[in-house]
Amino acid sequence: MSFQRVALIGKGLLGTAVLEQLSKSSFDVTVLSRDPSSLSGLPSGVSTSAVDYSSIDSLVSALQNQDVVVATLGAAAILGQKVIIDACIKAGVKRYIPSDWGSITTDPTARHLPTNYPFVQIQDYLKEKAQKGELEYTILSTGGFFDGILDVPFLLDLSTSSVEYFDEGQHPFSVTTLDGVGKAVVGALKVPAQTKNRNIFVHQALITQVKMVSIVKKYSTSGRQWQETYVNGETKFNESLDLATKNPGDFGFIMGLLKAMALSGKFNSAYSTVDNDLVGLPILSDEELENLVVSKLREKGQ
Ligand SMILES: NC(=O)c1ccc[n+]([C@@H]2O[C@H](COP(=O)([O-])OP(=O)(O)OC[C@H]3O[C@@H](n4cnc5c(N)ncnc54)[C@H](OP(=O)(O)O)[C@@H]3O)[C@@H](O)[C@H]2O)c1
Repeated sequence: MSFQRVALIGKGLLGTAVLEQLSKSSFDVTVLSRDPSSLSGLPSGVSTSAVDYSSIDSLVSALQNQDVVVATLGAAAILGQKVIIDACIKAGVKRYIPSDWGSITTDPTARHLPTNYPFVQIQDYLKEKAQKGELEYTILSTGGFFDGILDVPFLLDLSTSSVEYFDEGQHPFSVTTLDGVGKAVVGALKVPAQTKNRNIFVHQALITQVKMVSIVKKYSTSGRQWQETYVNGETKFNESLDLATKNPGDFGFIMGLLKAMALSGKFNSAYSTVDNDLVGLPILSDEELENLVVSKLREKGQ
């Protein structure tokens, strides 16, 4: 069996990069959107279709003759995928790649964390459908998206030249570029039998806070002194979980929890086994990783 027609749902930050890679492959690609007229920068040869994500009839009609759905919907739309999955089954779609793309969204020991809740619901729903033979799935765990990692105070805070190390700042963390995620999607769809009903793990590098700070110090032209502080990872994680649980709508506390989940070393945020060979995604050399950081620094005038 091979796939030919792929529908991408949600051309945002990640979807744009995945679409770029899909459009360079041999797949016939259609982008589904609430408002196709708002989509810019569509690669040539890509079709679009308007869809109401809450209407099963609208979805079934848009998904006729599609082999695969790749969902890259934003965070607010994750749980809404249940309707899309039902529509895929009705329309005869064979494979569904959910909007997951997480670091530790599939770690069994992290299922209870509030930020993982919607992803876990969709993973379980897909597995139930796959067990009944109604729809195949592939879930991609990609680590953190590397492209924007210096834009936010996550591993370090570039805007203030400061870093709060979790423990010694040596807990490794898997990262993949947006382009890398797109390449992994294409690779996974090219080997349908090997990626059927599986959670695929990919990364392009394993980084640590210490490693990132040392690269930034080496190449930054800002000449600023770095402020370096240390927190206990376990304590910080527990505090962050408490704050995010008590303030569920507060984006700052949610970011704090995501950071603690990724950097405290408590969860599987550094993949020891990856499927890069299976999907044809090379690991970055240290030099390539440094070059990516340098271009980001220059973009920011540093
Ligand atoms: N591992 C990481 O570091 C990391 C980082 C960021 C994101 N992610 C994951 O990557 C996936 C995609 O995230 P993204 O940031 O690329 O998404 P995004 O740009 O915020 O949104 C993608 C698209 O989703 C559609 N959408 C439908 N309903 C929506 C709603 N209620 N709210 C917002 N968007 C809605 C929109 O498309 P239309 O308007 O065309 O319908 C939008 O363009 C998510 O699963 C997210 O959790 C992972």
